[in-house]
Amino acid sequence: MKFFVDTANLAQIKEAKDLGILDGVTTNPSLMAKEGIKGKNNIFKHYADICSIVEGDVSAEVISVDFEGMIKEAEELATISPYIVVKIPMIKEGIKAIKYLSEKGIKTNCTLVFSAGQAILAAKAGATYLSPFIGRVNDITWDGIELIKEIAEVYSVQMFDTEILAASIRSPRQIVECAKYGADVVTSPLNSILGLLRHPLTDVGLEKFLQDYRNSQK
Ligand code: G3P
Repeated sequence: MKFFVDTANLAQIKEAKDLGILDGVTTNPSLMAKEGIKGKNNIFKHYADICSIVEGDVSAEVISVDFEGMIKEAEELATISPYIVVKIPMIKEGIKAIKYLSEKGIKTNCTLVFSAGQAILAAKAGATYLSPFIGRVNDITWDGIELIKEIAEVYSVQMFDTEILAASIRSPRQIVECAKYGADVVTSPLNSILGLLRHPLTDVGLEKFLQDYRNSQK
């Protein structure tokens, strides 16, 4: 399973990269706005900076909702770096855009996915990645992990090439469950990735080993 970090924050991307397990980055207009990135030139420069750090797939989202607008934006974004993956919303025009871009060899990430039916359409259109939003499904009392299971089963039966990129992750436990049930990629905030490290028995065990070593040297 690939690890992506879901942020536009350069310091966090560098920290994840330094950990040695980073395969890519996902962003969205909300995450870019959170970093205070404004204006097309600054936005493009920020994507280029992210690509140069991560040296892996970096999702950059279009803000158009019509086919022509999405294509124009996607083709411009793709000039930034070969690492750019164009994030396209799961709407009718988006499916048309994904089909067009996949035939042009431009990588896509179909975003705002909340059902297996949407997942089938995105795969048929040739999306590189599919982003089901686990946390937002849970927010409305449904089950985001069940969604991952269902999509993974459909994609396996149908032998679709589209990679399941579990998004809207809110906890380390959700990363484990996505891995267990067949996500190809998990994108999450750095905190949830670092949360995978934590176990009290590791801390207690390490302290005991170090203490025993110190005692043996007296
Ligand atoms: O990758 C999509 C993600 O950024 C959405 O996360 O926490 O806003 O639901 P969240």
